[in-house]
Amino acid sequence: MAKRKIVLTRRWPDPVERRLAAAFDVELNAADEPMSAGDLQSAMRSAEALCPTVSDAVTAAVIGVEDARVQIIGNYGVGFNHIDIAAAKKTGVVVTNTPGVLTDCTADLAMTLLLMVARGAGEGERHVRRGEWTGWRPTHMMGTKVSGKTLGLVGFGRIAQAMARKAHFGFGMRIVFHTPRPPAPAVADEFEAVQCDSLEDLLRQSDFVSLHCPGTEHTHHLIDATRLAQMPAHAYLINSARGDVVDQDALIEALSSGRIRGAGLDVFENEPAIPDALRAMNNVVLLPHLGSATLETRIAMGMRVVDNLEAFFASREPRDRVG
Ligand code: DGY
Repeated sequence: MAKRKIVLTRRWPDPVERRLAAAFDVELNAADEPMSAGDLQSAMRSAEALCPTVSDAVTAAVIGVEDARVQIIGNYGVGFNHIDIAAAKKTGVVVTNTPGVLTDCTADLAMTLLLMVARGAGEGERHVRRGEWTGWRPTHMMGTKVSGKTLGLVGFGRIAQAMARKAHFGFGMRIVFHTPRPPAPAVADEFEAVQCDSLEDLLRQSDFVSLHCPGTEHTHHLIDATRLAQMPAHAYLINSARGDVVDQDALIEALSSGRIRGAGLDVFENEPAIPDALRAMNNVVLLPHLGSATLETRIAMGMRVVDNLEAFFASREPRDRVG
């Protein structure tokens, strides 16, 4: 039987590309350049499966292109806010994602941001590399103590819970959370986590606020100037979720006016563009969307996409269907 044609929009880890090449007629993106809307439309016409990532805008115009052959969009990543799910549903295209396999690494990265920004790790590292360090002194680069502080989690899904586990058992942090979908009491009890009825309540009592909600129309600019003003002036904001959950201009204003103490950011509005104002701030840690970026996790994510494609083409329900 002829192999199914699939298109990958970016390079994937070698072991996954090899598995794909054995099972499918796969078109790789060897140059690893982002595909344009026109490229994505051509892929929709030529292939039976399209495998995009967060950097691809899989819009209604892409999905609904005339003569499309794609039956399944196997997204490489857990977040799928870059895919027009309604358009996929309308045209009968199945969409899958890769939950579960990136939980720990993304939570580790959120914890990395928290520790880095609290302890001035980015600033200190730049200081040493520039050859500016003149030696130990009692008042040099004093950060904020993390152990024992209160961590507020916005959203309480897998990644937030993994962060709660690390923060509570590793750093003795008190955990509070706010979510529209409260978990079973036993889940929160594991970390002695306390649910806040309102986001405002969480913001007011947290020393660190970490965002773990999906990027949707409801969470767009969830953290705006008003919400930032509800945080204590000594507090830090951590975002490893999606850039547009935060009003980036309002965040820049809050940081530069000292309204909050700092921010650790792995995601941004309009990636990969980063405003000069953010780059210039020492109380901000900036990472290039590295949440899931370990070899082990990136291979596991790719393998999960392959599992979903194989199930779909064998007329079984793919386990990670989101649309
Ligand atoms: C995810 O898995 O959602 C990462 O942010 C990359 O898309």
